[in-house]
Amino acid sequence: MGMTDKRITLAWTGASGAPYGLRLLECLLAANYQVYLLISSAARVVLATEHGLKLSASPDKAREQLVEHLHCDADKLIVCGKDDWFSPVASGSAAPKQMVVCPCSAGSLASIAYGMSDNLIERAADVVIKERGQLLLVVRETPFSTIHLENMLKLSKLGVTVMPAAPGFYHQPQSIDDLIDFMVARILDHLGVEQGLVPRWGYDQR
Ligand SMILES: Cc1cc2nc3c(=O)[nH]c(=O)nc-3n(C[C@H](O)[C@H](O)[C@H](O)COP(=O)(O)O)c2cc1C
Repeated sequence: MGMTDKRITLAWTGASGAPYGLRLLECLLAANYQVYLLISSAARVVLATEHGLKLSASPDKAREQLVEHLHCDADKLIVCGKDDWFSPVASGSAAPKQMVVCPCSAGSLASIAYGMSDNLIERAADVVIKERGQLLLVVRETPFSTIHLENMLKLSKLGVTVMPAAPGFYHQPQSIDDLIDFMVARILDHLGVEQGLVPRWGYDQR
């Protein structure tokens, strides 16, 4: 994979599970990916509630905060505003071929399933679907209603990968970080990003 291919769109929406999104961003940047980060306003509320990180509504300021928080390479992180229609992610001619929505709210799931394209997250997902790229939705809600299930089925039939935020316990997690890493490892596996976050079943466990 060449340098130009190492681009990905990551969207954080307002479902519980902000630490998954933060850890995923950290891992993608560490793997030298250029990340276009899209953050919904509800995601900012959830991030503040669950992680104590109060991100600015200004994309530039939010980027500065995240670079400081994660001690990451500033060049690789691009934070886009919700109406930034001139961002590469808004057009099939320039968008990364891979996109992850993590965590994905039931609301964003519905908007994506119906092609609403009313904000940059919905538009970017719509672009990836129409361009037949790889879209992963890490949906978090419980229980799922029939509406949620039908939306997930519809998208799954279109080739979208629906990965409920449901970590396993078979690797005997010792901490919340272990549970977060379980989910993030599965996401990275699907994206084809090398990771060593958790032992692989049947290999490292013997
Ligand atoms: C602390 C907190 C936790 C939430 N958890 C969930 C959740 O797990 N799943 C979900 O679908 N919505 C959840 N919501 C509600 C969504 O944030 C809300 O429906 C919002 O409109 C989603 O907008 P977005 O998809 O544009 O981010 C939560 C909200 C807050 C403030």
